[in-house]
Amino acid sequence: VAVEVVVGFLGCGVVGSAALRLLRDHRADIERRSGCRFEVSRILVRDAHRSRDVPVSPELFTTESRDVLAGQDVAVVVELMGGIEPARTLVLEAFRAGKHVVTANKELLANHGRELFEEAEANGVNLSFEAAVAGGIPLIHPLTRALAGERLTRVLGIVNGTTNYVLSRMTDDGMSFGEALAEAERLGFAERDPSDDIEGFDAAAKCAILATVAFDTPVVAGDVYREGISRVSAEDVEFADRLGYVVKLLAVAELEEGDLAVRVHPAMIPRHHPLASVRDSYNAVFVEGPKVGQLMFYGRGAGGDPTATAVVGDLVEVGRSLKDGRTGVMLASRFSEERRIRAMEAMESQYYLLLDVIDRPGVLAQIAGAFGQNKVSIKSVWQEGFGDDALLVMITHRANEGALQQTARDLRALEPVLEVRSVMRVEGAE
Ligand code: NAP
Ligand code: HSE
Repeated sequence: VAVEVVVGFLGCGVVGSAALRLLRDHRADIERRSGCRFEVSRILVRDAHRSRDVPVSPELFTTESRDVLAGQDVAVVVELMGGIEPARTLVLEAFRAGKHVVTANKELLANHGRELFEEAEANGVNLSFEAAVAGGIPLIHPLTRALAGERLTRVLGIVNGTTNYVLSRMTDDGMSFGEALAEAERLGFAERDPSDDIEGFDAAAKCAILATVAFDTPVVAGDVYREGISRVSAEDVEFADRLGYVVKLLAVAELEEGDLAVRVHPAMIPRHHPLASVRDSYNAVFVEGPKVGQLMFYGRGAGGDPTATAVVGDLVEVGRSLKDGRTGVMLASRFSEERRIRAMEAMESQYYLLLDVIDRPGVLAQIAGAFGQNKVSIKSVWQEGFGDDALLVMITHRANEGALQQTARDLRALEPVLEVRSVMRVEGAE
């Protein structure tokens, strides 16, 4: 006999409404698999009178958080509001009232994860967050359960659907940045403030969460080196294409001599690289460890329906543990490894540079000299145009980040270099 589990919702936007539809549409399967019948009590929203495409009675909507949290019968709170406050306060209140929480809120977890895990543990309840990273792709469960016996070394991938959608449309259809972003917003991939996606904040939050669970180390969003795609120009995308690369926003978390390197930035990757074929709102994450080798997780990283499957999956797991009378708490003490965060200047990569230069005898030698002085080795050079209107496209061999940044500063100071138009890392080639 199915056990009734009462669920309160905080938020009913793109993901919340998809989760409510999924609970209705797959009700019989969910009941069979969990042994629970999930009943939604109240739903907190900003505007309780707006008409919504959701299969619940309009009386369930409220603008009072206590209607959701004070219900004695509410066993699980599903937080799908986004943002830090009031979500943080309400999630902490839910824990203190003995309620389990399922959330998709990466910003909250990446900034206040430790506090949330400690409060959940103190109250003997679960904090589940499969939906917070890469939408519908199961990642948190594999990392924390299936791979619990491995010592992972690297997690690398594309974890933001909006930027991947924008870069794909610019590359494949020649769409402008603005047009592609508007389309991503219309499709429900983008954050409420899409600059969270474009400037890499969303990917940095996900990178922090992945690093935390993969390396048992408390990593916060501010630890992650972050560059978004707002400075990637149509010209960069075109040059990348001509040189056999594609531009992607990468998130990387890796162990280097015991230190943790965590970074999010655009990078050119060779067209034959598996990540190059990850298009539109799709995400893909590589996970590496000495025993397991290389794993790749691929799927829809954004959008209501895919993300709702992760939310409902967490709900089913909480329901099962409630039914069995156990709490599958993820202990705060799990995330207790102390590791230094490696400075970005210490990392190594190949680089692409686009220089606007004056084309006259001796200029190339001057430019090559700036690279040589900083011990950055040039792999290839192309010139476009001539006279005062020449562009130099350069790819380096692997070099130290600090040395490359110094090279870029030295180049800017050279009289024949009119502008260093672009500097981008090249990954996965050497
Ligand atoms: P959304 O469409 O903007 O929905 C947010 C919901 O929360 C709305 O129902 C809104 O009420 C309610 N809300 C927000 N602030 C509130 C406040 N102060 N008081 C009461 N209600 C409030 O957001 P979403 O796209 O569903 O995203 C929800 C969460 O999932 C975020 O943490 C997001 O990062 C995460 N996520 C989203 C996706 C995706 O593809 N969209 C994928 C993975 C994870 P109204 O409806 O009245 O405005
Ligand atoms: N805005 C996010 C993205 C939603 O584009 O990936 C999924 O977390």
